[in-house]
Amino acid sequence: MTENILVCTAWPYANGDQHVGHMAGSLIPADIFARYHRLKGNRVLMVSGSDAHGTPITVKADAEGVSPRDIFERYHQRFLDTFISIGISYDLFTHTDTENHYRVAQDIFAACLNNGYIYKAAQQQFYSAAQRRFLPDRYIEGTCPKCGYDSARGDQCDNCKTLLEPTELINPHAKEDSSTLELRETEHFFLDLAALKDEIAAYLNEGKDFWRPNVINFSRNYVKDLRGRPITRDINWGIPIPLEGYDSKRLYVWFEAVIGYLSASIEWAVKEGEPEKWKDWWYQPQAKTIYFMGKDNIPFHSIIWPGELIATGRSLYNDNPEQKMNLPYNVASNEYLTMTGSKISTSRNFAIWTLDILERFDPDAVRYYLNAVAPETRDTDFTFEDFITRNNNELVATWGNLVNRMLGFAYKRFDAQVPQPGELDELDREIIAKIETGFNEAGQLIEAVKLKAAQQAVMKLAQAANVYLDRKEPWKVFKNDKEAAATTVYVILRVIDSLKILFSPFLPFTGQQLHQYLGYSGKLFGQSCKEECSEGERSHSVLRYRAENVVGRWKASQLPAGQTLQKPATLFKKLDEELAEAELSRLLGDSS
Ligand code: MF3
Ligand code: ZN
Repeated sequence: MTENILVCTAWPYANGDQHVGHMAGSLIPADIFARYHRLKGNRVLMVSGSDAHGTPITVKADAEGVSPRDIFERYHQRFLDTFISIGISYDLFTHTDTENHYRVAQDIFAACLNNGYIYKAAQQQFYSAAQRRFLPDRYIEGTCPKCGYDSARGDQCDNCKTLLEPTELINPHAKEDSSTLELRETEHFFLDLAALKDEIAAYLNEGKDFWRPNVINFSRNYVKDLRGRPITRDINWGIPIPLEGYDSKRLYVWFEAVIGYLSASIEWAVKEGEPEKWKDWWYQPQAKTIYFMGKDNIPFHSIIWPGELIATGRSLYNDNPEQKMNLPYNVASNEYLTMTGSKISTSRNFAIWTLDILERFDPDAVRYYLNAVAPETRDTDFTFEDFITRNNNELVATWGNLVNRMLGFAYKRFDAQVPQPGELDELDREIIAKIETGFNEAGQLIEAVKLKAAQQAVMKLAQAANVYLDRKEPWKVFKNDKEAAATTVYVILRVIDSLKILFSPFLPFTGQQLHQYLGYSGKLFGQSCKEECSEGERSHSVLRYRAENVVGRWKASQLPAGQTLQKPATLFKKLDEELAEAELSRLLGDSS
């Protein structure tokens, strides 16, 4: 049965480049998941975009003396290049500064308001007399009332993830200058999370035991003391309130950014020329919606976004009263990736930037390692030694070597053709069967979002194929018994062809290369490409995945004897161990 799968990744603030922590934390896992489901024949929609609003953008704009729009456009462009380089196959990667997103966000605000889940209240807010303005939450720091961490931000504690109000901080102070803060009253709209609490709790209590324990435990605990939260701010960069008389206020970014999942799905459908098509993922009860993110984003996806959808009545843009808009099916949050033992810090430039590392290493080598060390259930550490060791032992010595020696051998000794096999023996049948069951095993792991285990399982199959080959030694047998060698080569080429598919969600670039060496034409996958769009006055670029004929490929190879092979080249480069030190000093030298 064909399933509809919506793959969502958290919307990154477009105020700086993407580092490998972003890749391992949400993008590569989401991409593996999406590619697998496409191969399986499911209907995948993978969306996200740049978060154009919020203080991370305005702080950066202030620092550079340019407009917030300049900042987000610059980094948005760089995000698009990054995702193309590392192969993140978004059906649509857009941003939150589109007319479409404004409209959907304002419609959700209006629906929540009409349904009585938004109220107005006066709020004490920190005002800086020196700066003559209310300070946005991120401009304020202090001690976390929950865990005592002394650099908690006004909106969230980075240490314990709790969402905060600036007034809850102990010793609040302005982050940038040391201007004194005074509390002044201002009126804001609030989302009535207290009134939504029971329904959110019911949602979290039903059938969520397959969620990662850290995510579900955190969320169930979190919902216990939910209170109303302001959804507007006194700022001028962001989405206007769709009511008269609030010109100096904007929608608060946390309320608005999560709406991007829906607005991007709608934008995608419009671009496809089938404007209702997004409903297949949002209104079909069997559709599965999976959200990938780092752990600081858990409450937005497991509490607030479901809360917003419940507050709209889950019937936005849909007249059929039988249907309810889907709440997140799974919130697959990762922990953090550290760099050689220390926290990644973008402000100290202590990070490996994705575009930078891709200048020196191949995308599949980077993808492989980042998935191998992905922080699925606990924080994990990126080290260059480990990167190089795994590249050399696993990609080069195990998988690459298997491909190299056999494709080269077949190309030379069998006239660049898949040889005609004789009768298969026990060992032949065994390895073929083993690989065939691998499709089920790896598929189940990927569906359970156990992507590290899935990759390991596939690498183990490549090991088994090497063992088979060492027992058969076709290069020796060839000298006296060309027919027996032909059978082995036929078997191993079929095995390699299957492994190509099994590895392809993880390693799409070399998968494509191998696909050609094996004599196939066409693409293994489609590709995300940049596209220019214009919307009224504005024009912007987005990424759009163009599907090729990948459907139903997730099955064992039927490589036909006689197929013409292409001249192979190596898939993976062996890396010099000395490189580890050079990379490390680069990392340390760049940061200060
Ligand atoms: N841009 C915000 C962040 O990076 C929120 C991202 S996820 C969203 O933390 F879905 F809430 F947008
Ligand atoms: Zn804390």
